Amino acid sequence: MSNSKDVYVLAIESSCDDTSAAVLKNDKVLSNIIASQKVHEKYGGVVPELASRAHQQHIVPVIQQAIESAGISKKQLSAIAFTKGPGLMGALLVGSSFAKSLSLALKIPLIEVNHMQAHLLVHFIDEDHLSKPKFPFLGITISGGHTQIVEVKDYFEMKVIGETLDDAIGEAFDKCGKMFQLPYPAGPHIDKLADKGNEKKFEFAKPNVKGLDFSFSGLKTSVLYFLQKQTRDNPNFIEENLNDLCASFQAKVVDILISKIEKAVKQTGIKQIAIGGGVSANSGIRSALKAKEVSKKWETFVPKFEYCTDNAAMIGIVGYYKFLNKDFTELTAKSNARYRF
Ligand code: KG4
Ligand code: ZN
Repeated sequence: MSNSKDVYVLAIESSCDDTSAAVLKNDKVLSNIIASQKVHEKYGGVVPELASRAHQQHIVPVIQQAIESAGISKKQLSAIAFTKGPGLMGALLVGSSFAKSLSLALKIPLIEVNHMQAHLLVHFIDEDHLSKPKFPFLGITISGGHTQIVEVKDYFEMKVIGETLDDAIGEAFDKCGKMFQLPYPAGPHIDKLADKGNEKKFEFAKPNVKGLDFSFSGLKTSVLYFLQKQTRDNPNFIEENLNDLCASFQAKVVDILISKIEKAVKQTGIKQIAIGGGVSANSGIRSALKAKEVSKKWETFVPKFEYCTDNAAMIGIVGYYKFLNKDFTELTAKSNARYRF
């Protein structure tokens, strides 16, 4: 059923290495198409120039597919939402230029979206069987590019209260995984192998960072020096101890994350924790959060995995709320690689 008050938003996300387009009808997702870029795998990380080129190849078919599988016509669209930042500048420009052209051609409003805000508001997509957090809540965004703790007081009233001073948490998984000779991205491999290992076998350094901020570069260096020393004595050390290395490393990362969340709960008095980002798939993190639900009465919210990693549906839900506020953007809007809220 559709009525004249329904809002149809086409959303475009192109901040990193996923080209994604989604169509939302109000707060429900009609389609969410994601084209991931395999081209970066052999480099062990995202190559910005290659990302921009791949976005340019993917963007038209991805948008076409999003509109087609939503079962609507372009004429029904109420607005176009796009990611303004943060992200890779060349990648952002592809999405924003396309969004501007389409809004001009269809004569409908343009809406700019902060990617980090979208990771938090994704929890408000209407999904059967999933409850939504109530304000205020603590939003935890953990991925290959982000590590943030945000106090979310309302849809557009949020404050970053902790973030990484160097590497993102997913970067720590990927870089240490590379040292363990695992393929990129290493996070899911570490997770799987950790399940079979002894997390108490090796002790890596826990960084001493004040307040709610994070640092992962010290942990990375501690793993590097440890491996250098061990492989000098035994060249097969990594191979022979892979499961225990993964389990010990993962346990340390979980400990770093959960102790900061615990501190944030204490500081704010907020016990609702909403996580997102690719690293929220990690089973060690999930079981540690579950344990806190029981022991500390936390309430945790995890979106569908498709909405944890970078996707346009999360851009669309922010677009929907901004549409209701008539918060539109000029065609002269600039992309912003370091956009903050
Ligand atoms: O959100 P995402 O797909 O992309 C961005 O970085 O924006 O997150 C990808 C990151 C990678 O670093 C990957 O290794 C990590 O999420 N990751 C995991 C797991 N699944 C994905 N890290 C640990 N455990 C996992 N199960
Ligand atoms: Zn992201």
